[in-house]
Amino acid sequence: MFKEMLKELLYCYGPTGREKRIGELLKSLVAPYCDEVYNDALGNLIAHKKGSSGKKVMLSAHMDQIGLIVVDIRENGFLRVSNVGGVSTPISIAREVVFENGTRGVTYFETEKETVGTAQLAHLFIDIGAESREQASKLVEIGDIAVYAGNFAEMGGRFSCGALDDRLGCAVIVEALKNLETKHDLYVVFTVQEEVGLRGASTAAYSVHPDFSINLDVTRTGDTPKSARMSVSLGKGPAVKVMDSTSIIPACVRDFIYRCAEKADIPVQNEVLRGGGTDTGAILKTKGGILAGCISIPTRYVHTPVETADMNDVENAVKLVCALLAEEELPKAGN
Ligand code: CO
Ligand code: ZN
Repeated sequence: MFKEMLKELLYCYGPTGREKRIGELLKSLVAPYCDEVYNDALGNLIAHKKGSSGKKVMLSAHMDQIGLIVVDIRENGFLRVSNVGGVSTPISIAREVVFENGTRGVTYFETEKETVGTAQLAHLFIDIGAESREQASKLVEIGDIAVYAGNFAEMGGRFSCGALDDRLGCAVIVEALKNLETKHDLYVVFTVQEEVGLRGASTAAYSVHPDFSINLDVTRTGDTPKSARMSVSLGKGPAVKVMDSTSIIPACVRDFIYRCAEKADIPVQNEVLRGGGTDTGAILKTKGGILAGCISIPTRYVHTPVETADMNDVENAVKLVCALLAEEELPKAGN
């Protein structure tokens, strides 16, 4: 069932640079539908399903999640941390976190002078229940990365959890792969290290060098009380990216997506994301330039443990991916 698969992906450990476990899980999910599955040197997972059209299409989503990296273990057993990706300090206070080996901890901050509002990441620590450096060092070492502990909450047709960014994109691709019919040579890529600068997508797009690429990621919304201005809302369909801080999508690519959505009767909305990028930015700039687009799943509270999305948007994103892949005629440069 889709929800069970999604939950497994959301609970799977895999911060930036430590994507081995999530990569193995995704490999087991896509292998039955592909001809070959391999990893590149950076750790990107690349699954190839052979086609007959002579055109290569790349479908991608990043599998890494943001985290907190241990930079120091104090004498009293508390862990000092730094961020891996876009971690907000106030949002990282009073959280339950988990390490790769299953060690659990909670986060708090120096209360002598700071408040939740003024605390910097340097004032934050993880308490893993250890009383000394010696005790703590048996559980965790410098360089280990903690992630927010997952907690999947259902709220009618909507749901909340950490790591929707971008396990939701991964889940959409897995589900689409089960259902799609395509004549194209398909490369499904689950990228690493998106959260620190689109690094995995850069090498994967270079080696695959597709004729056309579609990235799946989450995007922010503007539909919560007094939110920053943005037109995207939950429940109004997958968002077709127009622009974010790393990419401007070629008009021919957007037109292609709109046409397919209309034909398949799938609602879509336009996305202009200020202050945030996606793998699409790296893919577009690969070699002599690649025609690339991005389908975003509207998500509230991005980069928090309570990222929230709507199951209708997710289902429509799966349908849209299938509709795009079913088209024989792909967008062409210059159109
Ligand atoms: Co992100
Ligand atoms: Zn993302």
